[in-house]
Amino acid sequence: MVKILKIGGSVLTDKSRPSYARIDEIKRISSEISSVSSDLILVHGAGSFGHVQAKEYGLPQKFNPKGLWKTHESVVKLNNMIVEALSIAGANPMPVHPFSCITLKDGRIDDFCCSSISEMVKRNLLPVLHGDVAMDITRGSGIVSGDQLVSYLSRALKADLVAIGTDVDGVLFNRKVLPTITRDEISRIEVSLSGSSHADVTGGMKGKLLELIELAEGGIDSIIFNALIDGQTQKALKGYSIGTKVRRSN
Ligand code: IPE
Repeated sequence: MVKILKIGGSVLTDKSRPSYARIDEIKRISSEISSVSSDLILVHGAGSFGHVQAKEYGLPQKFNPKGLWKTHESVVKLNNMIVEALSIAGANPMPVHPFSCITLKDGRIDDFCCSSISEMVKRNLLPVLHGDVAMDITRGSGIVSGDQLVSYLSRALKADLVAIGTDVDGVLFNRKVLPTITRDEISRIEVSLSGSSHADVTGGMKGKLLELIELAEGGIDSIIFNALIDGQTQKALKGYSIGTKVRRSN
């Protein structure tokens, strides 16, 4: 059994203020996770600890050594806060920094040795990864979003449960939450899929859905739910169907 949970940067940080963590949300979500943390891999977004810095230094279009370091350094700070909160809440978190273990090719993960992550899960450790900068064999450097990490890990480790916590109730169409979405339906609602209103170098809800739809087509369904609502993260990890289910088209 492997469960993969991503909590978006818009939940954990205030995207309108550079490097501003929502400490209360981090603590609340950490305690929800800690009671159901076995067989789990956690991935978190960067929010204002990454998108702002990446944009400032022209990433991912430019290769900028200082920008790479500053962006990585910033998201590592957020990772430290989350790992600490999880530990205080009673889980056994271990940080995993994608910059040090992933290579991209044209912006997509080309090489990622996941065996240490599976070993952690077997030994009841909770790996905590995050969206990050990464070396790219064709472009020099790039950005690997938490959503891309989720889809890669879900395939590589054959995840049984994939849940993505965001700051909205799911995929919205005409202001209503769609209970399910498939690849065939995405073009119909594309116009209403916004990017983020804040600095976002990885594509907002649209980027997320494209990752998850590909994953579903490969046989792994996922849910997108609102992690700002108390109790929802725990429900998602217990397998409740909340938010929008991204599933394979018939
Ligand atoms: C972005 O990761 C990583 C960097 C900008 C370094 P994500 O795309 O997963 O972050 P959120 O969830 O949108 O904040």
